[in-house]
Amino acid sequence: MMATPGMEDYLEQIYLHIERSGLARASDIADSLDVLPSSVTKMVQRLDREGYVYYERYKGIELTDRGLAFGKKLVKRHDILEEFLRIIGVKEEKIYEDVEGIEHHLSWNAIDRITDLVEALERNPKFVKQLKEDRTKQKDE
Ligand code: FE2
Repeated sequence: MMATPGMEDYLEQIYLHIERSGLARASDIADSLDVLPSSVTKMVQRLDREGYVYYERYKGIELTDRGLAFGKKLVKRHDILEEFLRIIGVKEEKIYEDVEGIEHHLSWNAIDRITDLVEALERNPKFVKQLKEDRTKQKDE
């Protein structure tokens, strides 16, 4: 069973829609998160109260400076985790859902350390290649 999307998921999607197309409508967010538009309205009202978005019915969702900064941080976290799973050889078709599953459960401290690791791995393509070869070898045995 999929967990109900939380505040961070909504903010992440709002940020992505605004980044890609300049606007975020409640219906877009509902489609992206596979939830009812009424759930989006409820969450967006909460995000508005907490200072992350400006929301006017029929006008769409805008990010405040705070929402923009936090949205950016969330998207960066998602991307770094995708990169991490990709480097260690997780199957491409598993990556998105795995990241959606774990991202909200890691501390920012853990994210920072994974970021360091990903950067170190990117500086060592030889090691990454070796990892990949080891995986292939294990499969063959
Ligand atoms: Fe995500």
